[in-house]
Amino acid sequence: MARRLDELQKQYNSMASDQKRGMMPGRGPGGPGARGRMKGKPKNAKATVLRIMSYLKPYRFRFVLVFFCMFLSTVTSLFGSYMLAPIINRLTLAVKPDADISPSRPEQIADGVIRFFVDPIEALLGSEVLGYVLTAIMILAVIYLVGVLSTYLQARLMLSISLGSVQSIRNDLFCRLQKLSVRYYDSHPTGELMSRFTNDIDNIDVMLNNSLTSLVSGVITLIGTFIFMITTNWVLTLITVVFVPLFIFLGGMIGKRSSRYYGPQQAALGAVNGYMEETVSGQKVIKVFNHEEECVEEFKLLNNDMRDKQFKAQFWGGVMGPIMGNTSQITYAVTVGVGGALMCTRGLTPGALSVFVGYSRQFAMPINMISQQMATLFAALAGAERVFAVIDAPAEGEAGADPIAFGDKDPADFPKESPTSLRGYVKMEHVDFGYLSDRKILSDISLYAKPGQKIAFVGSTGAGKTTVTNLINRFYDIGAGSITIDGYDIRSLDRAFLRKNVAMVLQDTNLFTGTVRENIRYGRPDATDEEVEEAARLASAHSFIMRLEHGYDTVLTGNGANLSQGQRQLLNIARAAISHAPILVLDEATSSVDTRTERHIEHGMERLMANRTTFVIAHRLSTVRNANAIMVLENGVIIERGDHDTLLAMKGRYYELYTGKKELA
Ligand SMILES: Nc1ncnc2c1ncn2[C@@H]1O[C@H](COP(=O)(O)OP(=O)(O)OP(=O)(O)O)[C@@H](O)[C@H]1O
Ligand SMILES: [Mg+2]
Repeated sequence: MARRLDELQKQYNSMASDQKRGMMPGRGPGGPGARGRMKGKPKNAKATVLRIMSYLKPYRFRFVLVFFCMFLSTVTSLFGSYMLAPIINRLTLAVKPDADISPSRPEQIADGVIRFFVDPIEALLGSEVLGYVLTAIMILAVIYLVGVLSTYLQARLMLSISLGSVQSIRNDLFCRLQKLSVRYYDSHPTGELMSRFTNDIDNIDVMLNNSLTSLVSGVITLIGTFIFMITTNWVLTLITVVFVPLFIFLGGMIGKRSSRYYGPQQAALGAVNGYMEETVSGQKVIKVFNHEEECVEEFKLLNNDMRDKQFKAQFWGGVMGPIMGNTSQITYAVTVGVGGALMCTRGLTPGALSVFVGYSRQFAMPINMISQQMATLFAALAGAERVFAVIDAPAEGEAGADPIAFGDKDPADFPKESPTSLRGYVKMEHVDFGYLSDRKILSDISLYAKPGQKIAFVGSTGAGKTTVTNLINRFYDIGAGSITIDGYDIRSLDRAFLRKNVAMVLQDTNLFTGTVRENIRYGRPDATDEEVEEAARLASAHSFIMRLEHGYDTVLTGNGANLSQGQRQLLNIARAAISHAPILVLDEATSSVDTRTERHIEHGMERLMANRTTFVIAHRLSTVRNANAIMVLENGVIIERGDHDTLLAMKGRYYELYTGKKELA
């Protein structure tokens, strides 16, 4: 049965993280799509702005230059169009020498500029009017050239500033991710963290590069235009200004209407993307159960709905321009009418009027632009806030990074010890632990392992086996009790030193993009090629590696997608085997390997384990039978302990697990 639309939307929206939103290409900074994509309001805009400014600090001189260029390009554009006024006046006088013309102050200045250069050209051409006009055109060309150059320079500089500062933010974010605790990753899904890198940082870039510059140049244009207008004619200026509130009102109204549909549009987009991602990654399962048609049906529902919502949202976004444009025609008409009257009665020059009409038309533009950019700006600030929240999250070991669930002591209180090496005598005493403060996972775990001993954990799924081993290398800090190695409380040891001494094969296999050799060497970067091979042999990986196309130089991609599950595990074992750590943890290290290979590995590893403390977790009991001690865990408690024979003789839980049957009577 295919699910209904509202059901689908609800399900896929709850999983639709921002990352999935990011899968859709943006629509450019100002477009409706972009505004929809950048939702949210910053909580503390001022602090965030200051924080961003601290990233801009190294570029402050360039910044000053950018502002200067912006100023220059705006002023040249304003003054350039003003040069038309004296030209028109001059031509009017040529046609109608007795015209009653009294130029305003800016017109006189512009006229003065032209006259300053006009003499030689006038003499050359022998015509006063032609000389004047030609000179003016040349001056105009120079002014616009300066304008173009400064715009170019400004764009280049701003790009280098924004990319540079975004690069630093990205670096800080990545560095912090390396330092965050496992606990942090537990509570922040991968998708969420990825969207900090993609959407949020992109938005900061867009903000610095586009919004900020258009905001500043908008303000400069607004002020500049106003000054030119008021010094030319205050009556006409008044008319233009009177219409401004109308523009703001209209813009606000349309903006509100369109933003009402952005939320639903976003939700629909999230659902479509979530659905897409799930079906792409789950393609095999879809085929296994013949769900293709149903998927298409469900997708069509979602896709249809998205189109409807996008239409509503983007319609209002698109209608904004024409409405504003047409409204500005009203100002235009009134200005021309009143201007004409002023020209006839008050000696307003024809040049001033024509320039003024142009100004009054573009006066509304910066206002529009500013109101549009504000939304983008706030959304980008909200994104920046989320990025800084990750950067500010406490690193492993810092206060607040690992709130102790049942805490009795703060890890920071332990006196720091710095032994040069460890032998691997591990002792746990009355250890309690919980991932969340209200649910205890481990209770009163006590055990010891001497160097060279092999301790096995068995127990049903979810009993807490992985959890115990995650405490040894301080992925998590314990709530109560103590864990010591060679008598040192692990909380007194340097984290990096501790982890160097505990080699682990984690339950989830993970390989990085790179050659097989590099992946094995990950366990000890200074290992020689011979040592890499030796480790691979120990892990029974050598023979299959040799059968790969390029042997040890075969490049693995996508977490070793070109290998079998068991082969991936063998490489994980080799990676741990190459390390010189005195403590070795193998968590279901051979669960996907056939029993024959497993026995091979055991054989090879025996030499490796001989002088190491080894903790083994396995469901296959053949793997654990030769351990010095076997701990049977159930619901976070050690319910039985002893060696294989003792435990079998006890006919308890271990016997049950091992023989697969309960002892009757
Ligand atoms: N990161 C976590 N956050 C919260 N609870 C967790 C977390 N990891 C494990 N748990 C819970 O802790 C309990 C013990 O999990 P653990 O992974 O230690 O089991 P396990 O014995 O290794 O099981 P398996 O044999 O399936 O690997 C489970 O009930 C599980 O739900
Ligand atoms: Mg486990």
